[in-house]
Amino acid sequence: TRVAVLKGGRSAEREVSLVSGAACAEALRAAGYAVEEIDAGDDLDARLSEAAPDVAFNALHGRWGEDGCVQGLLEWRRIPYTHSGVLASALAMDKLRARQVFAAAGLPVAPGRALSRAELGDAHPMEPPYVVKPVAEGSSVGILIVHEGDPPPPPPGPDMPERLMVEAFVPGRELTVAVLGEADGPRALTVTDIVPRAGAWYDYAAKYAPGGSEHVVPAQIPDAVFAACLDIAARAHAALGCRGLSRADLRWDERRGLEGLALLEVNTQPGMTPTSLAPEQAAACGISFEALNAWLVEDASC
Ligand code: DAL
Ligand code: MG
Repeated sequence: TRVAVLKGGRSAEREVSLVSGAACAEALRAAGYAVEEIDAGDDLDARLSEAAPDVAFNALHGRWGEDGCVQGLLEWRRIPYTHSGVLASALAMDKLRARQVFAAAGLPVAPGRALSRAELGDAHPMEPPYVVKPVAEGSSVGILIVHEGDPPPPPPGPDMPERLMVEAFVPGRELTVAVLGEADGPRALTVTDIVPRAGAWYDYAAKYAPGGSEHVVPAQIPDAVFAACLDIAARAHAALGCRGLSRADLRWDERRGLEGLALLEVNTQPGMTPTSLAPEQAAACGISFEALNAWLVEDASC
């Protein structure tokens, strides 16, 4: 099987994807696949024609690679590809649309809504604490947390994306659950408790700097909360119609017990370095990085 690993791309998460893609390519070679790495630039269509792979391994993150665009190109070219298809990718990448799907499926989301740029720079758009975030970004790019006692956020700068949302900030823990879309239904792997270094939150630096955060896997939380996280992640994967691998991010306000769980989002192209959250959970379940990547290739379709 000849596999083209699509990596890089032109989103704000380009650097993350280059690392994911290189790691996946190495693992796939070790698993015996013939692998070509393609940096997904403007000439992606021509590169795919040249490479004519049996399977495209999607290691892209963010806009164009995670939002259904590349998936549409691969459908058009009839090249089987890993991870989610067009619709699930597009829904998951749009945090407002995804919230609607989650709420309709009875999954817990924090209060939130679309925020116009004109609402920024004056009064608080919602009672603090809250989070202002781009509707369609990843890796915490562009996220602003407003705590009690903070002034309202400044007017949007030139690099602030057009589409924004505001969501109540859920204090407490940051939890994440990877899900494998197995033939008999989504299988939630385990729960990781993400502990950023003292005084910080799980921002871009905490995500990617060495020692930026500690991952406790499996999370040391009550059994009922653990089980609820697995259930929410599997149902969110199914509600969006995800395929292959996804990762649900949650927050948990410990003071409120089971009621304190909130689903933030589903990542259809979760980080794929060997120490990333989803591969780390797979390893904790006895699935090596090599096996995880090989499974994704075998699961590919279009
Ligand atoms: N958006 C990053 C890559 C993640 O969810 O892991
Ligand atoms: Mg994300």
